[in-house]
Amino acid sequence: MKGLFITLEGGDGAGKSTQIRNIERFFDEKGLVVMHTREPGGTPIGEKLRDILLDKNNAEMDDITEMLVYAASRAQHVRERILPALEEGKVVICDRFTDSSIAYQGYGRQLGEQVAEVNRRATGGLEPDITFWLDIDPYVGRERAGNEGELDRLETEEMDFHCRVRDGYRELTEKDPGRIKRIDASKTIDEMRDDIYACLEELCRSRGL
Ligand code: TYD
Repeated sequence: MKGLFITLEGGDGAGKSTQIRNIERFFDEKGLVVMHTREPGGTPIGEKLRDILLDKNNAEMDDITEMLVYAASRAQHVRERILPALEEGKVVICDRFTDSSIAYQGYGRQLGEQVAEVNRRATGGLEPDITFWLDIDPYVGRERAGNEGELDRLETEEMDFHCRVRDGYRELTEKDPGRIKRIDASKTIDEMRDDIYACLEELCRSRGL
């Protein structure tokens, strides 16, 4: 694969959007072509699935259905947009990817190991080159996100759920410290940017970019 695949993860209110813009700027300045995308969504089919997933009126959605619909959105996204962009040598920056499903469905919904298995099928085994986990205390994150507008179906889950999600990210990071970098989201926006840029510089050096 010629391009670079970068994903951002984290709970609500961790400041992902701001750091995505910083990452875009980092690669723009290097003269690399960036494609910014998100999950669930990223394709016309994926955006329709996103509406279903986040709609608060879909309160009856079964946990297994939820896991499969996130994976379906991802399968389409990988094949329709992510792989072609990587083949063209682009830097793909994706707001959430498989780690979200493992954290939210695997740990949050407590569906366990099957989530990783389903997602291996969905992605064909594609993994990010680097993942930034913007780690925020769920109570602090809720406070920040709550100020930004209406909460979606996942965001309205109880705090226990969000604490399990955070435990999930923590375990993922411990298992794969080479790929997943924990960024302390209680720091200032500029401090977080500096921490992220240091990791990106190292990644670029290792790739000769
Ligand atoms: P989004 O508006 O993108 O949330 P955020 O601004 O926090 O990124 O909504 C995505 C929601 O879906 C978010 O609450 C996390 C959840 N989610 C999963 O539960 N599983 C997944 O695989 C993905 C990609 C997202």
